[in-house]
Amino acid sequence: MSEAATPVILAADSGLGGLTIVAEIRKAMPQARLAYLCDNAFFPYGTRPDAALLSHFLGVMNRAIERVRPDLVVTACNTISTICLPQLRAATSIPVVGVVPAIKPAAQQSRRKIIGLLATPATINRPYTDDLIQRYAADCTVLKVGSAELVQMAEVKLLGETVDRDRLRHILSPFFDRSAATQPDVIVLACTHFPLLRAEFQAVGPADVVWVDSGVAVARRVVDVLPLPRGSSIEADLALTSAACDPAMRRALAQFGLAEVETLPG
Ligand code: DGL
Repeated sequence: MSEAATPVILAADSGLGGLTIVAEIRKAMPQARLAYLCDNAFFPYGTRPDAALLSHFLGVMNRAIERVRPDLVVTACNTISTICLPQLRAATSIPVVGVVPAIKPAAQQSRRKIIGLLATPATINRPYTDDLIQRYAADCTVLKVGSAELVQMAEVKLLGETVDRDRLRHILSPFFDRSAATQPDVIVLACTHFPLLRAEFQAVGPADVVWVDSGVAVARRVVDVLPLPRGSSIEADLALTSAACDPAMRRALAQFGLAEVETLPG
């Protein structure tokens, strides 16, 4: 593939969670060039009022799109995808792929027909999420747990700190402090930060629980809808931050192949 034909994908999240999506896109499309917007000026998204989050996100994405000129955009965050997709698609001619809770595959995989939904408080309460449940999991009992603390725990794990497993057990207790027959056998990781804690979830939860996320499905969708490259303005993989990037964050971005970091002008 010639240099001019390299497709460029811009993924975005509030912090480091969207890197779980970047990792899946990289596996599916090793030839693509990746840009990642880490919107650390507005982290965390999951406790922000909808209107403020939406207007901030449209503004910062506009700046990131102008800088990168990508061929495709991925909103690598359930919290933002469940409110911004119509508005972002109206604001840009670039194709946009969203990340929404993997409720459909979870309902299909659950033998007990009891699924857990683990997300940010914002995603848990979104009409978009209720609609997915009605459409794809009407035959299931859906137990919801919304936690902003888990987002923080995932973020600091990637920044080098140890995860407090007792705290994790406590956050997950609405799923597991009940009789075995009424516990979920599939849990949806409906926040892109949460796959970063998969090992810890598996360690504190029952061995037979399946933890489902959207990463592979999103990467597949990116492959399907990526248009022909139009010529981006970046020549290597690039991370953009919306506030200063400290050394620990720089190391975390580098672990995902994003060694070059720029802070977006305000
Ligand atoms: N990673 C984001 C998601 O998928 C949200 C994290 C946050 O609250 O900032 O929902």
